[in-house]
Amino acid sequence: MLPLRLSRVFVWASLLVLVQCQENPGVGYPHDYPGKPKGPFSPAWQNYFEVTEPLPNVTWSLPRNFAGNIPVDRPGHPNDTLFFWAFEKEQGSLTAQEFERSDEPWGIWLNGGPGSSSLLGLLFENGPIHVAANYSLYSNPYGWDNLADYVWVDQPVGVGFATADNTGFVADEDQMGEDFFGFVANLVEAPAKKPRALQKALKMARPRFIGYAVTT
Ligand SMILES: *[C@@H]1O[C@H](CO)[C@@H](O)[C@H](O)[C@H]1NC(C)=O
Ligand SMILES: *[C@@H]1O[C@H](CO)[C@@H](O)[C@H](O)[C@H]1NC(C)=O
Ligand SMILES: *[C@@H]1O[C@H](CO)[C@@H](O)[C@H](O)[C@H]1NC(C)=O
Repeated sequence: MLPLRLSRVFVWASLLVLVQCQENPGVGYPHDYPGKPKGPFSPAWQNYFEVTEPLPNVTWSLPRNFAGNIPVDRPGHPNDTLFFWAFEKEQGSLTAQEFERSDEPWGIWLNGGPGSSSLLGLLFENGPIHVAANYSLYSNPYGWDNLADYVWVDQPVGVGFATADNTGFVADEDQMGEDFFGFVANLVEAPAKKPRALQKALKMARPRFIGYAVTT
């Protein structure tokens, strides 16, 4: 065991590091991987977002899954993005064409706070991959991706793998809702799936309303 004084120093040092990290939470920009498509979101982006490399410690086969950063399209903040990780219910279900399977539900999971990474939910609550105490991974047979195509989203900007520039954080729930609205509009363009119900909802809903939906 560390002597008491030393352990206090250690705790303070850790706190300082933590505080320093918090001063610049999540500032960054999305990492570009090789083969990034040019132009607006379209089904061409599906290959780019599909996770094809084996993941460390995943010893079983995962459903087809997609992950990456998608801009929230806030004017003046091109590097403000949300991060998503989506798992298919069935082979091809997430990328079905516009009017195929359009009456099937799909879900977005947001951890509360707001301000917690939804990867906590994915890896410890309702996702297909779970982390054991010794950092080995195991398959969660109760993952919600068994019920529907499911998308875990880090939000608002700057949380987890979601990125924001220095001045691009959210000041209030209205901004959070507008950002989320921009993200979802892009998300449904990237995987081809465009559920009609959602399209309708997006056209009708005011961003402010989504802001409330996200935080409750
Ligand atoms: C890690 O923990 C899991 C679940 O408790 C166990 O099955 C596995 O054997 C452990 N692995 C190692 C390397 O200790
Ligand atoms: C993989 O699991 C082992 C325990 O089985 C753990 O010690 C190791 O840190 C894990 N690797 C990663 C990259 O998480
Ligand atoms: C956005 O990120 C790029 C790096 O990809 C950087 O060069 C640029 O300055 C950033 N723009 C803003 C407004 O932060």
